[in-house]
Amino acid sequence: MVCLITGSSRGFGRAIALEFGKNGHQVIIHCKDRSRDAQEVASQIKESIVLKADVRDFNEVKSIVDEAIKKYGRIDVLINNAGITKEALLLRTAEKDFDDIIATNLKGPFNFIRAVALYMVKQKEGHIINISSIAGIRGKQGLSAYSASKAGLIGLTLTTAKELGRFNIMVNAVLPGHMLTDMGDSSSDKAKETALRESITGKFSDPENAAKFIVYLSETSGITGQVFNLDSRII
Ligand SMILES: NC(=O)c1ccc[n+]([C@@H]2O[C@H](COP(=O)([O-])OP(=O)(O)OC[C@H]3O[C@@H](n4cnc5c(N)ncnc54)[C@H](OP(=O)(O)O)[C@@H]3O)[C@@H](O)[C@H]2O)c1
Repeated sequence: MVCLITGSSRGFGRAIALEFGKNGHQVIIHCKDRSRDAQEVASQIKESIVLKADVRDFNEVKSIVDEAIKKYGRIDVLINNAGITKEALLLRTAEKDFDDIIATNLKGPFNFIRAVALYMVKQKEGHIINISSIAGIRGKQGLSAYSASKAGLIGLTLTTAKELGRFNIMVNAVLPGHMLTDMGDSSSDKAKETALRESITGKFSDPENAAKFIVYLSETSGITGQVFNLDSRII
């Protein structure tokens, strides 16, 4: 399968890209700025390319999707993983930060779905997996913009699943749990302590483990419109 993973230069996206690579798939590594990190990921995968685009900009997204199609002729799996966050209480959240988080975490996946689904519709098959968060279901203090973006992403997932199901395109969301990536590690000590305290296992989530689930899901058929909670905190 040809798999495009947004934000796969590092963190969770990197783990997903490597897991697809390990399973013999062709992988399109995507990043915004960190091409060197993206190239390092690509160097560990037998068949892969690196493409750069800002997810907030539809023209940039469309251009790399077209480039990927030119190279591979199809895209079987789209993982909308790229994301950002910034901790601040609602009353202290700057408008610019709110806009930036929504543009990256919600409009970004919309841009990629619009660009990729056109080809998936022609193929009459495909998998789209959106990386959301438990914050989108139950909210999280200090993360109003992030929680709103991740809740919106669940709404986008469910609607896209309903609209694209007749073309045999499966659309699901995955909530991975608190992982010690650049994003997870930069949370405040208080947020990390709370995540550990609320976790049934008493541990942070493991990106490699969650990546295995994502590869498995993208190899199934007929499962769509679902939100898979891999977080060990009970909702
Ligand atoms: N870490 C956690 O605890 C956790 C928990 C639940 C959900 N998630 C979700 O999992 C996903 C991955 O998170 P992570 O922890 O791996 O984050 P991370 O380590 O900070 O990596 C973020 C990735 O997104 C890319 N990116 C950011 N803004 C972009 C933009 N405007 N255009 C294109 N690419 C952009 C980055 O590219 P560059 O390297 O080029 O900057 C990087 O590859 C996110 O959607 C996050 O919300 C994470």
